[in-house]
Amino acid sequence: MSLLWQFWTVVLLFHLPIICKSSSSTADLFENWCKQHGKTYTSEQEKQYRFEVFEDNYDYVVRHNSMANFTYTLSLNAFADLTHHEFKAAYLGLSASANNLIRLNRGSSSVGGISGNGKKNNDLPSSLDWRKKRAVTKVKDQGSCGACWAFSATGAIEGINKIVSGSLVSLSEQELIDCDRSYNNGCGGGLMDYSYEFVVKNGGIDTEEDYPFQGLERTCNNNKLKRHVVTIDGYKDVPSNNEIELLQAVATQPVSVGICGSERAFQLYSGGIFTGPCSTTLDHAVLIVGYDSKDGVDYWIVKNSWGTSWGINGYIYMLRNGSNSEGVCGINMLASYPVKSSPNPPPSPPPGPTKCSLFSSCAGGETCCCSLRLLGICFSWKCCELESAVCCKDRRHCCPQDYPICDTERGLCLKNITNSTLAKQLQNGGLAGKLSDWSYLFAN
Ligand SMILES: *[C@@H]1O[C@H](CO)[C@@H](O)[C@H](O)[C@H]1NC(C)=O
Ligand SMILES: *[C@@H]1O[C@H](CO)[C@@H](O)[C@H](O)[C@H]1NC(C)=O
Ligand SMILES: *[C@@H]1O[C@H](CO)[C@@H](O)[C@H](O)[C@H]1NC(C)=O
Ligand SMILES: *[C@@H]1O[C@H](CO)[C@@H](O)[C@H](O)[C@H]1NC(C)=O
Repeated sequence: MSLLWQFWTVVLLFHLPIICKSSSSTADLFENWCKQHGKTYTSEQEKQYRFEVFEDNYDYVVRHNSMANFTYTLSLNAFADLTHHEFKAAYLGLSASANNLIRLNRGSSSVGGISGNGKKNNDLPSSLDWRKKRAVTKVKDQGSCGACWAFSATGAIEGINKIVSGSLVSLSEQELIDCDRSYNNGCGGGLMDYSYEFVVKNGGIDTEEDYPFQGLERTCNNNKLKRHVVTIDGYKDVPSNNEIELLQAVATQPVSVGICGSERAFQLYSGGIFTGPCSTTLDHAVLIVGYDSKDGVDYWIVKNSWGTSWGINGYIYMLRNGSNSEGVCGINMLASYPVKSSPNPPPSPPPGPTKCSLFSSCAGGETCCCSLRLLGICFSWKCCELESAVCCKDRRHCCPQDYPICDTERGLCLKNITNSTLAKQLQNGGLAGKLSDWSYLFAN
């Protein structure tokens, strides 16, 4: 009996998340912060380490906020238990090649669309906020997936789509992350121009609702890839370091930009006009949704993708019309925007349900997989989210049609290849998709 009791004690110690709890005043602050941000840590050591990091950030925030010469403030936001190094590793994700400034530039000529709006500077309103014109969706959260480029691109497409079509539709980053693999690299980083090119070539992009963000890369859902809810006709690059043209572009629509987002002050930013110090090594992508001035200081209104607890409800004001041509954090260096002149295709009727048996069915575009078979009769069906999928023998997973072989032991879906040269590559994992991608089969 007592042995059993000990066993359970051990299990509980190892499995219950440690709730933040301490004594001194920074520790109390930490405890409250943990509660506020729903933070739990898996071990006492981890918690102690996170507390030390938090204390260090606390000192940094207090020091910054006590200096009278800054136009912006810092706070202990959701990233306050991360070291600057961890933060940089996890929350950015603009492709490193952004800094070689080898821009595609195909957008400015061949990829269709209208040419510049030709507005002169003095025709522009002194301030503008696309949020007030309902051309900006709610702030999204990329989590620790480095796909800021996808959020920046969908934000710009959402904006121009609202301006041209009149409806504000939240669009799918997950589609870009999973399917745009010609250059962009999912949670590993990418560039907005490639996303625009992808959406043009694909003939449109699906909605956030239909193809929601998952926080990690998965195999492209070809079924959803075919849902062209919103289209664009091309894209254009704003010439680098030309703030006047950038302002003209923002006066026309929300514009995606690359910035350096890895400064510690950027991590902990909470309000005011961000003036740096900031490098111009571009590593993050955001969306300019307007501009304004306060007490003679001009700024951009910038939408980030780190949730609403960062910055000003997810936004940051960044210095505009400053002294260097690259702009603060390089914001003038890599600006571009999608072009839209054609209407969206009419909505296609949702596919009818797929019948599994007399009594059960799955949604259209899904595959029925049997989860309980006795004497050759299926007693229970589950829905695999993929069209024409292969149901694995383990009755727990499914694989896409083009990777039909279930390797449940290694957690992979494999291509069916008889060619021995290719088979070798396959063994090295080169052609394998991730089985775990589909393991949500029985999640519901
Ligand atoms: C404010 O003053 C501190 C200390 O003198 C200095 O390091 C910092 O760069 C100044 N910031 C601005 C925005 O001038
Ligand atoms: C930039 O600042 C200068 C000097 O304050 C001002 O005259 C000019 O109008 C500003 N330009 C823009 C585009 O806001
Ligand atoms: C793999 O391909 C071979 C030959 O094309 C075919 O006979 C076999 O049924 C396929 N296996 C699967 C699991 O699709
Ligand atoms: C097998 O695949 C390799 C590489 O794609 C190709 O060069 C070769 O011709 C193929 N062999 C057969 C028998 O299909």
